[in-house]
Amino acid sequence: MKRFAVPIAMLLATTACTTTQRVADGSDLASSAAPIAPILTSAQAIDEESWAEPQKARVTHVALDLDLDFARQRVAGTATLDVMAKPGVSEIVLDDRGLQISSITDGAGRMLEWSVGAAAEGEKGAPLTIGLDGARKVQISYAASKADALQWLDPEQTAGGQHPFLFSQGQAILNRTWIPTQDSPGIRQTWEARITAPKPLDVVMSGVRQGKPEDLGNGRRAFRFVMDKPVPPYLIAIAAGDIDFAATGPRTGVWAEPSVLPRAAAEVGDTEQLVEAAESLFGEYRWGRYDMIVLPPSFPYGGMENPVMTFLTPTFIAGDRSNNGLVAHELAHSWSGNLVTYASWRDGWLNEGVTSYIENRISEEVYGKARAEQEYALSYAALEAMVAQQGATNPVTAMRTPAGTSPFDTDGEAIYDKGTVFLRTVENIIGRQRFDAWLTQWFDNHAFQPATSAMFLADLREKLVRGDRQLEQRLLLDQWVYGTGLPANALKPDAQAFAAVDAAVTAYAANRSLPTAAAWRAWTAAEQRRFLEELPEALSASDLAALDKRLGVSASGNNEVRFLWLEAALRNRYQPAVPQAEEFLARVGRNKFVSPLFQALWNTGEWGQPIARRIYAGTRGGYHAYTRGKVDAIVS
Ligand code: BES
Ligand code: ZN
Repeated sequence: MKRFAVPIAMLLATTACTTTQRVADGSDLASSAAPIAPILTSAQAIDEESWAEPQKARVTHVALDLDLDFARQRVAGTATLDVMAKPGVSEIVLDDRGLQISSITDGAGRMLEWSVGAAAEGEKGAPLTIGLDGARKVQISYAASKADALQWLDPEQTAGGQHPFLFSQGQAILNRTWIPTQDSPGIRQTWEARITAPKPLDVVMSGVRQGKPEDLGNGRRAFRFVMDKPVPPYLIAIAAGDIDFAATGPRTGVWAEPSVLPRAAAEVGDTEQLVEAAESLFGEYRWGRYDMIVLPPSFPYGGMENPVMTFLTPTFIAGDRSNNGLVAHELAHSWSGNLVTYASWRDGWLNEGVTSYIENRISEEVYGKARAEQEYALSYAALEAMVAQQGATNPVTAMRTPAGTSPFDTDGEAIYDKGTVFLRTVENIIGRQRFDAWLTQWFDNHAFQPATSAMFLADLREKLVRGDRQLEQRLLLDQWVYGTGLPANALKPDAQAFAAVDAAVTAYAANRSLPTAAAWRAWTAAEQRRFLEELPEALSASDLAALDKRLGVSASGNNEVRFLWLEAALRNRYQPAVPQAEEFLARVGRNKFVSPLFQALWNTGEWGQPIARRIYAGTRGGYHAYTRGKVDAIVS
């Protein structure tokens, strides 16, 4: 049988493969029109978190046909995979964590042999090995209940209170709990889905919805989706609930529960502008529409960059768009992360650090230099604090996770904030115009492909450094990417960015003199955050009472501000904050807020530990598996 136009070895390797190569025999691949993304073979591209052996056989396309069963909290149906295999290779290995597989065929009814190996410790799951016996399609009939990627919410956990809700969170390695595929960021796959759900629920996915939902006549509807661009499988996402849509521009809009939609739409009213700004900086937005969904509060992250459908926490809604750096961030992933993706989890900074840098640049375009400088100063301060706390030689402070450390143990600051400071530093040395041109071509030339730190640095050296030894010495590229701590050439934030706030911080530290209520109200959200982040560690009950009375922080409409207040209050055993924390922790499931508050309580010892236990007993059931896992490690 004739198979490939180009030797399979070329399709599977990095060097010779371009996105324009096509499979000759269309029967081998259902979506033969889709570009086949290369598999990187370098040591840096090895993903220890996946069982897949993509050099031998790999998935190129996933077709899901699944029923959402809210009563049993499970999905069930089939996943049909298109497979590309080296000649002579007789099996393909997928990732599986807890799937209930009933049978596997070649898609035409012929049974294939399969087995599930021993599960690794932690979240990696087990290898699912399928005998191909010449097949280039495998159809897996399965169900997934108790999938950690899926959170099934009871009606009471939604704003409307009438209907259940479902959302998924695939990143990092959770999609293997509901989709049997090669769950590795370097193995890009196109996908399509047919999903059925009970009326009146609407379903959205991180792919383009096809036509109107089909009424199945049994109280259910079927929704179809297509993602025709190869994506890393952690980006396959789904949400279903009683949700409506509001446009925010010709190609942007937001979904949310009806009672949340007006506030959500107002908060993300700048989205069209953000997309335009991003395009003006780093080239065309290549995904068609940019829509968002504001989820119920148990969503464990601030946001998740699911293609064409960013997922957002409702806790970013402040009424004044002050937290929509979050939208800029998830949008920025449309370039860094979704278009060009790290091949292994060790290169977290390639997605998140580059995105934080772009987020800041978008902020500057849309909101002006002053706001962007303040956000940069907050990043820089967070990075400095993290390095001071962890120690400058601690491996958790490295941008590329060193061998011997779990890529999921790296401090967020080492990836997000160090990444921002790194790229601002390079931009400053190279010059903005040249750097922007370089970054734009990096995205263009690696569009829909995986990348590594080594590739990023090699391209920078080839195109910008070009053998200039002095320039090389000034940049300290390897130290930034592979080293620990904060390199000496780091671009310091503008000392003026927070001049007024920092004076107020100093005054407060000296004699507890507070800014006036009017001055506080006039501050930006970033300024208010700066003030609260720089408060003295130890504060007395009367200090805290006076601070809250003057500034009204415990009733702030901005959850970032309210969180910083609660953290300061709890670490100082401030009893009046306990009911406030209880209310907040019952209402908010975003781990960035939840874990630190439990930690603050826990750290106080015998005062806070019983309080933490009591509050957690009431809130644990409402948290997402991710948040629960983090808090379980604190509260015992
Ligand atoms: N992709 C991340 C969320 C993520 C990272 C999920 C790693 C799982 C593993 C998302 O883009 C993100 O960074 N969210 C931040 C937003 C913030 C930096 C503006 C968050 O949720 O706090
Ligand atoms: Zn991100």
